[in-house]
Amino acid sequence: MHRSEPHVLAERVEHAYAMHLPPGKGFLPPVVPVDVLPDVFARYQHACDALPSRFGEPGGGIRPWLDSLFSRHDPAVTQAIDRLSPMERQKAMTVLCTLAHTYRWEKTPPDQAAFELKRLTLPPGIDEPWTHLARVLWQPRVGSLWNVALCNWSLAFKPGGSDYSADELTLENLRFTHGWLNPPLASALEVFMLTFVETEARGVAVIQRSLDLVRSVADNDVQAILSCLETLDEAIKTMNHVFYKNIRARLIDPAAWNERIKPIYGWGLDTGEGTLEGASGLQLGAIQCADAVLGIENETFLPRAVAESRKYMPEGHRQFLSAMDTVRSLVPRYIRENGNAPLTQRYNLCVDSLRAWRQAHQRRGALYLCGNGAGPMGGTTGMAIRDSEHAVEEFHAMMQGRIGETMNAHIPVTADAQPTRVAI
Ligand code: HEM
Repeated sequence: MHRSEPHVLAERVEHAYAMHLPPGKGFLPPVVPVDVLPDVFARYQHACDALPSRFGEPGGGIRPWLDSLFSRHDPAVTQAIDRLSPMERQKAMTVLCTLAHTYRWEKTPPDQAAFELKRLTLPPGIDEPWTHLARVLWQPRVGSLWNVALCNWSLAFKPGGSDYSADELTLENLRFTHGWLNPPLASALEVFMLTFVETEARGVAVIQRSLDLVRSVADNDVQAILSCLETLDEAIKTMNHVFYKNIRARLIDPAAWNERIKPIYGWGLDTGEGTLEGASGLQLGAIQCADAVLGIENETFLPRAVAESRKYMPEGHRQFLSAMDTVRSLVPRYIRENGNAPLTQRYNLCVDSLRAWRQAHQRRGALYLCGNGAGPMGGTTGMAIRDSEHAVEEFHAMMQGRIGETMNAHIPVTADAQPTRVAI
């Protein structure tokens, strides 16, 4: 039987979804992140547990402490890495990333010297297993959103390794596992990091509705397309709500975020493999999925940075997003060619909802970047924003470009006809 191009595309994304994302979990781990590692990793976990009291101490400085703890590499650790299960490997990566990032920044707020650092020599006991693990995982040797946030949580009522439902992942139920700050900052850090987890949890519905939409377009089923656009819009709004409710001064103090929280999840240092980014919102999968299904154009700096940042995402996530890239023009082209008012309006409402997230991110992000910006990267993220003097203006302009691209996806409503089937 002849398969139309839309059917081939729909099958491709459905296949990629089934192959590369755990069912019902989207860009989150397949099970609750594991709690424990084999004994040989105990000293790494203990060091992580002790980090907040040392790293968060005024005037602290953790390099001498970590240098003495990890002055020697134990080959048993690298051998043990080879025997770990996939989720244990992610846990070990999260632990090592946390130690390495705190070592890189040394204390919080970091000294000027940490911003100016050109090279970093990690103690062998961290350097060797971290390098080995990154190689085994086919990941760059740096913290990523995946390890520092998306695999770094627990649920009070479910042990590590157990199955969970994305609906259970709410700020109330989640705990951030490996933090690096003492109270009261620990709570701001926790809310910030868990916002990414919660966003991906609500993003599961965005992915599923995106796939439904692609399928209904391939089937040329106008009633189904209308309903999919409606449910996709609801899913995007629900995902947006996570940002609106969490990113507020009452839960995360902007000055503390800028000075104490922001630097540590970025890396921004060349350690021989080019400048590595570290964790960032650029690595959030559900938003990229919504961009792809709505066919948002990708010409400005920011979407190029998002594409570049995919190398920090797990291989399966990249594969799924690459498949989504192939359907970019499918939905808007169908709607343009149909010229049907209800369809067009519902599609435009989805675009508006995505724009609303970007506007909130632009407004609140500017508020957070306004905090006390000490040091060459003080007002910046170390990635897209590099000029600390004009960080807010730079940020605003960059986000405005992306908002403009999002709005360009709007399709003019040309006819007020009833939904009809069209030739595709
Ligand atoms: C509150 C403080 C925040 C600030 C100042 C901020 C700043 C930025 C900046 C400067 C970028 C460009 C890349 C970079 O240099 O990192 C960016 C991108 C991004 N951020 Fe944030 N961000 C904040 C919070 C968040 C949160 C909580 C989320 C997700 C829940 C998020 C999601 C994203 C996404 C998805 C992008 C890619 C751009 C897009 O698709 O529109 N950000 N952010």
